Amino acid sequence: MSTEAPEQGMGLPPATSALRHKDLLGIDQLSAGEIALVLETAVAMKEIGSRSIKKVPALRGKTVVNLFFEPSTRTRTSFEIAEKRLSADTLSIAIASSSVVKGETLIDTARNLEAMNPDMIVLRHASSGACHLLSRFCRSAIINAGDGMHEHPTQALLDAFTIVERRKRLAGLKVAIIGDLLHSRVLRSNILLLTKMGADVWVCGPPTLIPTDVTRFGVRATSRVDEAVRDADVVMLLRIQLERMEGAFFPSLREYFEVFGMTEARLALARPDVLIMHPGPMNRGVEIASEVADGPRSVILDQVANGVAVRMAVLYLLAGGVEHEEAA
Ligand code: CP
Repeated sequence: MSTEAPEQGMGLPPATSALRHKDLLGIDQLSAGEIALVLETAVAMKEIGSRSIKKVPALRGKTVVNLFFEPSTRTRTSFEIAEKRLSADTLSIAIASSSVVKGETLIDTARNLEAMNPDMIVLRHASSGACHLLSRFCRSAIINAGDGMHEHPTQALLDAFTIVERRKRLAGLKVAIIGDLLHSRVLRSNILLLTKMGADVWVCGPPTLIPTDVTRFGVRATSRVDEAVRDADVVMLLRIQLERMEGAFFPSLREYFEVFGMTEARLALARPDVLIMHPGPMNRGVEIASEVADGPRSVILDQVANGVAVRMAVLYLLAGGVEHEEAA
C-alpha cells in the first residue's frame, strides 16, 4: 500500500509527507498540503476496498474505541468498517447501556477507557468542543466524528474526495451549500476546507438560518436560491435540523421546500454536470426532492462509499502512516 504515487490528475496542492498531529479535531488544524495528503492516501485506501479480501495489517495491534454520544448511521458504520479493513481491534461503546446513563461525565468515561490503553478514540458528542476537551485529558489520538454545531472534519474530507474524484480539482469550482447553515457542523468544516483549497463557496438559506458572521470565512451568503445555484459545479444540501431548533426559524416545512427545496426545475440554473451532494440523513421533500436525491447527478451514495476510504486514510495517517511489513 503506497501513498507515494497518488492518482494522476488530483488537481491538489503538493501533499505534505505526514500528518503532524496527535488528533484530528477539526479542518482548522489542517494545512492545504495535509488535506491533499489525506485525499491522496484515500485513493490507495479505496483500492483496498475493491479487493476480494478487503483487509491490510496496517493497524494490527492498535485498539480503536468508537464513542458515539449522538445517533449516527454513516459515520459510525464507516469508521467501524475502516478500522476493520486496517486490522485494528475495535470496540463501539453503546452509550445507552454504559455508565453514562448513571451520570458519569465525558472526562471520567474517557479516563476509564484510557486506563485500558486504547490507541485512538473516535468521538461524536452533542457539545461543541467536546473533542478538544478530551484531547487535553487523553494520551490516545482523538478523532472528531462530529461535535455539536462545531466541526465534522471527516465529513468535509469525504465530501472533498467525492468532488475531486469527479471533477479532478477543487480550486475554482463554484460550490453552493444550501439549507440549515446555523446548526450545521458539516457547513463549518466544508467552508474551512473548500476555501482553503481555492473553491468559490456560496451559502444559502433563510435569513434566520444564516450565521451572522459567515462571510468572514471567505464565502458569499444569499437567501436567493437561484443566485446560489446559478452556474454551480456542486450543490450541497444540508438537513433542516429540527432537533437543534428551539424556536420557529421559518413558517413551515412545506413553505421551506417551496422556497429552498432542491428540485430539477431549480437545478436547470446550475451547470449541466452539477454534482448533487447531501451528508445525510436526508429530509426528502424538505431540503431535497426525491427526483434530485435519486437522479443521475446525485453523488450522495458515493459520499457514503468514500467515507470508508477517507476514514481509513485518517486512521492510518494519525497512526503515523507506518507501512506494516506484511502490508499487501
Ligand atoms: N453525515 C453523517 O454524519 O451522518 P450520520 O449522522 O448518519 O453519521
